[in-house]
Amino acid sequence: MPDDIVVLIKAQHREVERLLDQAEEEGADTLALLRQVSDLLIPHSEAEESFVYPAIKRYDSSEADEVKDGTAEHHHIEAVLTELLAEDPDSPGYDGKQAGMVGELRHHIEEEEQDLLPVLSEKASAEERADMAARFAAATSWTGGAGGDGDATRDELYERAKEQGVPGRSDMAKDELRDAVDEA
Ligand SMILES: [Fe+2]
Ligand SMILES: [Fe+2]
Repeated sequence: MPDDIVVLIKAQHREVERLLDQAEEEGADTLALLRQVSDLLIPHSEAEESFVYPAIKRYDSSEADEVKDGTAEHHHIEAVLTELLAEDPDSPGYDGKQAGMVGELRHHIEEEEQDLLPVLSEKASAEERADMAARFAAATSWTGGAGGDGDATRDELYERAKEQGVPGRSDMAKDELRDAVDEA
């Protein structure tokens, strides 16, 4: 897990973008992918609003409007995403609505990284950025995203368990292996 809030938020953004790319592919399981986007994005945005945005505003009061816009964007994106999850992806107008939400979300991520997160990189201490990262990871149940444990196959986790000498590993399911490897 990154020990810097800025690195952690950007890692979650990359994971969201990876899922959006997949959702836009021909023949994708749109609802399953948008559900994954929603599961990742909602706790991410809530954590930003509860303690990341307030810290940014504290360090740089000139970003207050940007923070307000960012919060409004979260709520609009979430509202459209919730509607998309309740509709049939083959219904007329769905693709356009999905494209609109995806465009707004990509733009939100870009602005957050360009305008807001640099305030923390420049003004928060390394210790505070590490504290915020731990709090953010806990709030979002983050285990690492693409390439991290979240996406490791059972075989990869089994190999790690073997290296660590985890007892009973042969009988473990993927989730049990992940917990055992995380704990070791
Ligand atoms: Fe955000
Ligand atoms: Fe974000």
